[in-house]
Amino acid sequence: MKYVYGLKSLKGAISMPPDKSIAHRAAMFASIADGTSVIENYSAAADPQTTLSCFRQLGVTIDQVGDTVTIKGVGRDGLSSPETAIDCGNSGTTARLLTGILAGAGIEATLIGDDSLSSRTMKRIINPLQQMGVNFEARNGDFLPLTIKPGNSITPMKYDLPIPSAQVKSCVLLAGLFGTKPTEVIEPVISRDHTERLLNLEVETNAGVRHIRSSRSTDIPLQNYAVPGDFSAAAFWLVAGSIYPNAEIELKNVGLNPTRTAAMHILQRMGADISVTNERSSVSEPVADLVVRFKQLKPVEIRPEEVPNCIDELPILSVAMAFADGISTFRGASDLRHKESDRLAAVAALLKEAGVRFEEHEDGLTIFGDPSFVAKPATYESLHDHRIAMSAAILAGRSDGKSSVKDASCTAISYPKFWEDLSTLSVV
Ligand code: S3P
Repeated sequence: MKYVYGLKSLKGAISMPPDKSIAHRAAMFASIADGTSVIENYSAAADPQTTLSCFRQLGVTIDQVGDTVTIKGVGRDGLSSPETAIDCGNSGTTARLLTGILAGAGIEATLIGDDSLSSRTMKRIINPLQQMGVNFEARNGDFLPLTIKPGNSITPMKYDLPIPSAQVKSCVLLAGLFGTKPTEVIEPVISRDHTERLLNLEVETNAGVRHIRSSRSTDIPLQNYAVPGDFSAAAFWLVAGSIYPNAEIELKNVGLNPTRTAAMHILQRMGADISVTNERSSVSEPVADLVVRFKQLKPVEIRPEEVPNCIDELPILSVAMAFADGISTFRGASDLRHKESDRLAAVAALLKEAGVRFEEHEDGLTIFGDPSFVAKPATYESLHDHRIAMSAAILAGRSDGKSSVKDASCTAISYPKFWEDLSTLSVV
């Protein structure tokens, strides 16, 4: 439990934790490359650490000194069968991408996870992988523990993504890396594209629809990775900087991959004062520093097609909407109900505790913003969901009293220094 007091403002400069999505992928691809890779700025957060422990269990030698990780890749066919179940902890990305790799590599294994991960659907990856010739045993045919029972070899296929999910896309493409003929994933709405970028996959776009291909002849690059700062972490401060009076926050080293930054553009549509400086590139990913300053926000409507590119930021964008001058809404986000918690219900509970007027829909929220809104001091449930805990903290600091966030240490899943950064920035 953490107590959060109403704050006067937020001021100062902080660096963002390494991007979780990129860290997972860099570790996975380095593990199945032929040779040694070095990953700089690897995340100390629990989820990316889980990916390292999974690959250690599969026989990969991985050393970490500070935030530098050295991985002696065993090659596409060099992973060993694990002796015990592989624990994916809280990490959906680990479970879903790893399943693709194990299915392709022909390694029988059982994946387990914590209570939250064990209640998240795996059907979305079981379905395509079954079409590629892989068998599964899963609790209720859908949930962890999940045992992967690969066939003799993976059957390449064309897969029309039924939902815009980077985890499903990546899972199928990673299984495809082991097929003699190309596997093609067809993606009508672009989701985060780190897998394509880091593996340099062939991507063809026809009338806005992306066709992405992988096969055994795809080179798994042996490269030194430098993981950029996590835009999803930065989003908490972009919102906080916009809603705390007189705030001015500098965020250093933020990854600005265009498939991740919809939340920044949405905030800018709301009138947020965000400047982008020092733009550069870090191993196939754009990076910059950001400065955000307080500005009264206008209401906004987030279009369903924008949702995949701000899916992880919708909880904190909902907090921004509470302080906007009018009614904001987003729909088409029912997948939020299948994240680390049911995030639509979890955000609705935060808003209710704080005294925000809103309506909850099956696939979104409508929030009645008020520029003079001050949150009620409250006790917030994080539901062991890192993004809910951080959203609650930002909301709580904009109150006029003492609030508490339960199970607050879950922020370490993606952002171990979150509470320290909050106190660095706090003006009391
Ligand atoms: C992720 C993809 C998204 C996102 C998750 C990380 C990834 O999940 O919510 O935090 O790294 O591929 P979905 O693919 O389920 O939308």
